[in-house]
Amino acid sequence: MKKSQVTVGIIGFGTVGTGVARILLEKKDELKRRLGFPLVLSKIADIDIKKKRDIKLPKGILTNNANEILDDPEIDIVVELIGGVHPAKDFIIKAIKNGKHVVTANKALLATEGSNIFAIAKKNKIELGFEASVAGGIPIIKVVREALVGNRIKTVYGIINGTSNYILTKMTEEKVEFSQALKEAQALGYAEADPTFDVEGIDSAHKLAILASLSFGIPISFSKIYTEGITKITPLDIDFASELGYKIKLLAIAKQGNGEVELRVHPTMLPKEYLISNVDRVFNAVYIDADAVGASLYYGRGAGEMPTASAVMSDIADIARNITTGSVGRIQGIGMPEKPNVRIKHTDDIVSRYYFRFWAIDKPGVLSKIAGILGAHNISIESVIQKVRKKEKAVPLVMMTHEARERDVRAALKKIDKLPLVSGKATVIRVEAREE
Ligand code: NDP
Ligand code: HSE
Repeated sequence: MKKSQVTVGIIGFGTVGTGVARILLEKKDELKRRLGFPLVLSKIADIDIKKKRDIKLPKGILTNNANEILDDPEIDIVVELIGGVHPAKDFIIKAIKNGKHVVTANKALLATEGSNIFAIAKKNKIELGFEASVAGGIPIIKVVREALVGNRIKTVYGIINGTSNYILTKMTEEKVEFSQALKEAQALGYAEADPTFDVEGIDSAHKLAILASLSFGIPISFSKIYTEGITKITPLDIDFASELGYKIKLLAIAKQGNGEVELRVHPTMLPKEYLISNVDRVFNAVYIDADAVGASLYYGRGAGEMPTASAVMSDIADIARNITTGSVGRIQGIGMPEKPNVRIKHTDDIVSRYYFRFWAIDKPGVLSKIAGILGAHNISIESVIQKVRKKEKAVPLVMMTHEARERDVRAALKKIDKLPLVSGKATVIRVEAREE
């Protein structure tokens, strides 16, 4: 049934929920002008309705009972902004079964339960908007699902976690300690409720699972993504990277080729002159290489109240337009039927260039021993740095390699880590750069 106004309820009045309410209330007239019909925010639910928030609300709009939104026959769109799997999943399924369209920013939920939720939404002829689930304010879901519909995507990679990019930037530019930079990111509203999701690469993997599914039409494959975070990155590695002409970024990478898909998230050394290397602080960027358009790069704020609210608002407006024009279901789920049985490349088969840092005792022969083991595993060294000379003491020994296979790298490092002249385990950072 076509409607002349659309009514919205928000569950979760935290960082993003407040931003969405701010746009709906403060830009009410402007939105009506742009959409041609009113969008009415009728209820907001949160556990804590007493907390002071910097926003003026109409009387009686707040409730501490999400069911008042889920069961309200007047509400057309439920916006889930509480995060986490439970009870968010139950709220979304209840909303769908009650005939309400849903907007969510919850990548943790979609990456783990998305296929099921999309199927329930489809069965019930309900729209599910999730623009804010990947790359915050960058409208990347719309780009991949709609704008690039005439393309076959080959590669998509990006900086898609604002918190870890903020931390790495602060550590690189201002020599701020990891824990201090994380505290700042939390205070700015960038981090997840559990910030280990940000710094251990899990949040990036959640987003990559969604992005890869949209890009390649594969099932959401979060559990198959190789994931490594930024917690082991030290100022020493940041300095060595800089000396070698690189920056370290947490990169989420998806590539399609030879009938298989490669999915990985890890700290990555990128040449300083690449555009993406200069994406700093909370900014995100997504690079896409597709057959028709070629290479394209999308840049913007990846987290925070208003950038994320901007993405949520775009879903609310799209769904509201579909409701008022009777075109609900125009675009569904991941935008194409899922291709089953696509092989996800095993981590052992990944080919990359590598940065290794060893703590080696400065004695004659150590370099040739390490080089010998690498050579025996088909790993060819591109350059070596060993500056400090402290006889009989462990000093950092840095090596950059040409392209090598992950399986060979692991086998070689297992042997090198056991050498009596080497102390501790090697630090490994993959390098994403074209070979000269
Ligand atoms: P917040 O923690 O700031 O807000 C969540 C709010 O939901 C809190 O006020 C919380 O209350 C409330 N809440 C929790 N459980 C319930 C419940 N059962 N019923 C009603 N309210 C509840 O999170 P964010 O706003 O940062 O994030 C929301 C979602 O958006 C998450 O999925 C997140 O991953 C996603 N997101 C966040 C971005 C950001 O920059 N912050 C960017 C992109 C996506 P209490 O605090 O008392 O638990
Ligand atoms: N915690 C996430 C980040 C929020 O820092 O990118 C945006 O998804």
